[in-house]
Order: sequence, then structure tokens, then C-alpha cells
Amino acid sequence: VDEAHGAHLRFYRQFPNRDAMASGADISVMSLHKTLPALTQCALLHIRGELVDSGEISRLLSVFQTSSPSYVLLSSIDHCLRLLDSDGARLFGEYERNLVKFREDMACLRNLIALPSSDPGKLIISTKKTTLSGMDLADILYAEHKIELEMSSIDYALAMTSICDTEEGFNRLAKALTVIDDSVQPEPPRESHSPALPVQAKPPGEVLACQAKLTPLNKAVELMSAEYVWAYPPGIPIIIPGEIIDEASVAYITRLIQNGIYPKSTKGQLPEYIYACSP
Ligand SMILES: Cc1ncc(COP(=O)(O)O)c(C=O)c1O
Repeated sequence: VDEAHGAHLRFYRQFPNRDAMASGADISVMSLHKTLPALTQCALLHIRGELVDSGEISRLLSVFQTSSPSYVLLSSIDHCLRLLDSDGARLFGEYERNLVKFREDMACLRNLIALPSSDPGKLIISTKKTTLSGMDLADILYAEHKIELEMSSIDYALAMTSICDTEEGFNRLAKALTVIDDSVQPEPPRESHSPALPVQAKPPGEVLACQAKLTPLNKAVELMSAEYVWAYPPGIPIIIPGEIIDEASVAYITRLIQNGIYPKSTKGQLPEYIYACSP
């Protein structure tokens, strides 16, 4: 399991043991640095059971890993795990109280919407019923309230939180959102901009054998993509190899560009060209 965003999940008191290993995974790689206090790059690989060949994993790690590990990173991992062991219950207790209070504060919003999230620590604010884009909201929070968000997209912005956020920090964010909410203009909810998943004509691995050509994006509708197309944020592929390029995906790419988000593709020729072939 790619558990890059899940290192903290087992510690929530409200949702304990939601992490991959507790849910029966055989192998999981988790980034400590994303959701727990550890330096960037700190991560853990968990393995158990008979299905995973740990000898082969060790062999491959010796191929791909450096032979000069960073003791700064190792000690950061050690520090993080020791902190969780000794004080995790208190820190997560406080964190969850702050999150509950933040959600209560957000109930007063009239235009912005604090969306529910399966990870309560990820605070997603929808701008869909306002004239603001998610990027506008992030810019205002940064410029006028000195609050930096994790990411933003056309219709929402995401504040990522952790046990290191203080009650004062949560209150500042809640207050800033309330002030912005009072000042924005409401508008009828915009339609969701994410298109439905395109039709998959072939598995990605089989597309390598196709005679693909760089094709102008506007002429590529109904052809099969031979490359990945994604935008960050949010980083989710819009098209993958083997999928049929449809009108909705092209319209979505155009809309992202109009909003200042530039989609990328494996061949790097978007928005002009996409690497495609007949299905
Ligand atoms: C889903 C997912 N997997 C993996 C990674 C990479 O993790 P790391 O930065 O710890 O290498 C990321 C990083 O953003 C991610 O979002």
C-alpha cells in the first residue's frame, strides 16, 4: 500500500487502527514526514506475512538505496517514534479536540464550505458557491492572513494539519475563513470540473507496443493516449496510457489552464500535443 499520507492514521483516537497494516496489508510504505513530525524524506517500510519476499526487498533496496545513509534522517525517525510512544496519546487527544472545535467554528460559514473528509486532519474548504477559485482563497489566506495552505485547485483549497498545529493556529485559520466568508460574493454552485474516468481501451503496459505519434490535443479526441496526463494540484492522473481521450478530458485540461494550472504529460508537450495512437 502506498501509505504516503497515512503514517498518523493509527494514532487517531476517534479512528484508531485505520492504517494499512492494521487493515491487513502485507507491505506498506509510509512517509513519516508528511503527517508526523519528522524531517522531509523520512519514511518507513512495513512488511509482514508470507506473501512478501523480504529477502528480495532487501536485495532491491541495496540496488536502489544509497550506501551512505543519513544519520540526521535516521535520528529524526527515531525522535518521531519516541515522541509518539511517550506522548502520542496526549498530542493526538489535543489535536482531535482542536479539529472538532474547528469544525464547530466552520458551521457559521455561509458561502465557503468546510467539506467533510475521511481524514479529519485534512481541512478542505470548497469555494464552489462563491466567485473565488480555490487558488484565490489560498492567495488571500497567504497575503492577508499569513497562512500557507498545502494546495489549492479550481474549486477548493486544502489545509493539511498535524499534531504540531496549535490551538492558536486553528483559531487563526477559523477566524481568517470567517472574515473571508463575510466578504465574498455568493454565486450558484459551479458544476464539478472533474470529468468521469475515460474509457480504458488497453492496459497501460500494452500501449508501449503501439505506433503512437505526437498529435495536436484538439485532434486527439477518440484516439488512445500513449502517455500520462496529470495536473498538480491535485496530482491525480487525468488520462493514463490506454485510455480514450474524450471531449470531457480535453475540456477539463483547457479549464485547468484557464485557471492557471498547467497539466503535464510524460512527453512534456501538453497543452499543444499529446502522444496518442488509434485504439
Ligand atoms: C500518494 C503519494 N505517494 C507517494 C508520495 C511520495 O512520498 P515521499 O515524498 O515520501 O517520497 C507522495 C508525495 O506527495 C504521494 O502523495
